[in-house]
Amino acid sequence: MQRVFKTWLTRIGAHVSARAIHRVNAALNYLEVGRWMAAQGFDTSRRVIDRHEIYAQIASELGVQRVLYLEFGVHRGESMRMWSQLLRHPDSQLHGFDSFEGLPEDWTVIDGKGTFSTGGAEPVLSDRRVRFFRGWFADTLPGYTPPAHERLVLHLDADLYSSTKTVLDALEREIVPGSFVLFDEFSDRLHELRAFDEFLRAHPQWRFRLVAADQILARVAFERVS
Ligand SMILES: C[S@@+](CC[C@H](N)C(=O)[O-])C[C@H]1O[C@@H](n2cnc3c(N)ncnc32)[C@H](O)[C@@H]1O
Repeated sequence: MQRVFKTWLTRIGAHVSARAIHRVNAALNYLEVGRWMAAQGFDTSRRVIDRHEIYAQIASELGVQRVLYLEFGVHRGESMRMWSQLLRHPDSQLHGFDSFEGLPEDWTVIDGKGTFSTGGAEPVLSDRRVRFFRGWFADTLPGYTPPAHERLVLHLDADLYSSTKTVLDALEREIVPGSFVLFDEFSDRLHELRAFDEFLRAHPQWRFRLVAADQILARVAFERVS
């Protein structure tokens, strides 16, 4: 980009709202996630409508196995409720991690620190297999020992790069072949996508397949295959 063009952009910027920058950034995100998927060799030609379809596909592949479902970013428990209905084995366990104080730092110019706070309230679910671990991931994960299970579903829905990276690093050894890793805002190139990209680079021998993706590559699921 030529210097004169860069200078012109800065002058335009003086008249642009934060929301407009947010939209331009979102457009870049969608370009980048499409590029990244293709560069990694993930075929995204078949896309599903929404996250229900992605969850249902993973659940049908899991069948009646004893699953450990770990959710990072619970908020009001919407996705936890769906998984509680999808996982059929009575000894499956569903563990949800959240501060319940919202995001620990700004995510976008629109979604600042504290977004998604429930004021500390945990969702109430009647499923006795569900358990919540309240606090910042960096504080709760070091003392956490995953219970025995046949298959792992790791749901990363904390939006931020820092939070996602904390979880991937802490649970690295749990992500064995056959584990599913599910993202909710994967199309954000500076956050969940960046954290997973770094994770793949740190494990060049590990192979993942793309299990399912929604229309905008925000909700995507991978399975480690080897
Ligand atoms: C988008 S919401 C989760 C939505 C939920 N999975 C659903 O589908 O309804 C993101 C959540 O991540 C939590 N969160 C983000 N970073 C965190 C961290 N480092 N430690 C604890 N909680 C965190 C926030 O408190 C927030 O509730």
